[in-house]
Amino acid sequence: MNLKGKRILITGASAGIGAETARQLASYNCELILLARTQSKLLEVASACEAAGSTTHVYPVDLSDLDLAKQICQEIHQSIGTPDVIIHSAGAGRWLYTEDTNPAELQQMIALPYLAAFVVTSVFLPSFHSYQSGHLVFLQSPVSRAPWKGATGYAASRWALRGFIASLRADLMNTKIKVSEVILGHVDSTYFEANRGAETRLPKLDKMLPTLSEAQAAQAVVKAVQTGRKQIVKPWLLRSLLRLANVIPWLGRTLTNL
Ligand SMILES: NC(=O)c1ccc[n+]([C@@H]2O[C@H](COP(=O)([O-])OP(=O)(O)OC[C@H]3O[C@@H](n4cnc5c(N)ncnc54)[C@H](OP(=O)(O)O)[C@@H]3O)[C@@H](O)[C@H]2O)c1
Repeated sequence: MNLKGKRILITGASAGIGAETARQLASYNCELILLARTQSKLLEVASACEAAGSTTHVYPVDLSDLDLAKQICQEIHQSIGTPDVIIHSAGAGRWLYTEDTNPAELQQMIALPYLAAFVVTSVFLPSFHSYQSGHLVFLQSPVSRAPWKGATGYAASRWALRGFIASLRADLMNTKIKVSEVILGHVDSTYFEANRGAETRLPKLDKMLPTLSEAQAAQAVVKAVQTGRKQIVKPWLLRSLLRLANVIPWLGRTLTNL
């Protein structure tokens, strides 16, 4: 896809990979629709994007409130129109053992990314069908392929997202609507400040893999938008490990939980 002037909605655009993706897309003079909870951070990202030549719309919203998420997306649809691309980057969730996870926090981590991505997609999908175009891009964690210890709620939400992506692909077969999944290893982003303790639960195997910067992670997302590729995995060593885990599941489980 030629990015110039494209209308792109990004969830989780106030920080981390979503914010950096917005800044990188801004140089293509895109029309960016930025969603997250923190208005002040969204405005900072929007101002950097406008300085680089993009137009922006900022929507502060807690996407775990699914009725509100739907209402805001309907407002965007009516007042701005249908995005060419939706990038689902909003995500949260501490990495906890089952017995340490309280019900309210569990609901939050199922809401983000899975339920919110479902609701946002559901609002725009009918227009994607009527235009026979549109591209959905999902940020994903390797835990959706190879679960590790002490992150059950987080992992279950990523498996739900994986199921949603796979089912969407079935629904959208024989249409021109594209679905991309960007699976990233450890990214040095604000995620680990927002979800304290998670970094201590990273699998030992992670030390063998290079940590990605926010810029490298965002480059992978921009590449997914440009190429429409179904799956992008970064870093490349993670791609090889996930393939191995797919072919020899016990080896994948052992390596992930060393
Ligand atoms: N960092 C990694 O190592 C890594 C690796 C693989 C995959 N991922 C995935 O990539 C995605 C982005 O991660 P990241 O590292 O950029 O995380 P991050 O730095 O914590 O950013 C998360 C974004 O989501 C927004 N958000 C969180 N809860 C929200 C809510 N209830 N409603 C609306 N927005 C909400 C946050 O903004 P507000 O707080 O302002 O709402 C922020 O903009 C996540 O899905 C994450 O799981 C991350």
